[in-house]
Amino acid sequence: MKSQQAPLVVYFSSISENTHKFIQKTRVESLRLPLLTKDEPPVVDRPFVLCIPSYGRPNGAGSVPPQAVKFLNVEQNRAHLVGVIGAGNTNFGDLYCVAADKVAAKCQVPVLYRFELMGTAEDVHKVNEGLEEFWIQNSLY
Ligand SMILES: Cc1cc2nc3c(=O)[nH]c(=O)nc-3n(C[C@H](O)[C@H](O)[C@H](O)COP(=O)(O)O)c2cc1C
Repeated sequence: MKSQQAPLVVYFSSISENTHKFIQKTRVESLRLPLLTKDEPPVVDRPFVLCIPSYGRPNGAGSVPPQAVKFLNVEQNRAHLVGVIGAGNTNFGDLYCVAADKVAAKCQVPVLYRFELMGTAEDVHKVNEGLEEFWIQNSLY
């Protein structure tokens, strides 16, 4: 049965809220992960894309926000993950959006897009269009 729901993006955003501001500008349906790692993560029952900023140490270690790790450690959530969007800052050079690369490699899903900080109008447009196309191509509606 086809669902009429829009593409779903689950995202983490710290108190600087760059990622939150980006997601608010898109027309996707979204679910924000809890700010505090001690809080219980949501359990998702349909396909979603995970959007996460990188928060690495200088050697790139520990760049995936622990709140996202806790969320993905729930098997049902991992089973519904279809792709990753990376948020970051190109000042980090080779480590730009490295958290998205790590999650994608580990969970065997594609990195669909990368954007800096709170994203540009072009980023918003590309994510809106790209996710709708991805949902159609993969029969996720
Ligand atoms: C301590 C720290 C480490 C960071 N590490 C990376 C990094 O390895 N790669 C990257 O692309 N951006 C890195 N960033 C930039 C953040 O990912 C970027 O500012 C992002 O927009 C933060 O999103 P948020 O405000 O939604 O939490 C880092 C930022 C901080 C403060």
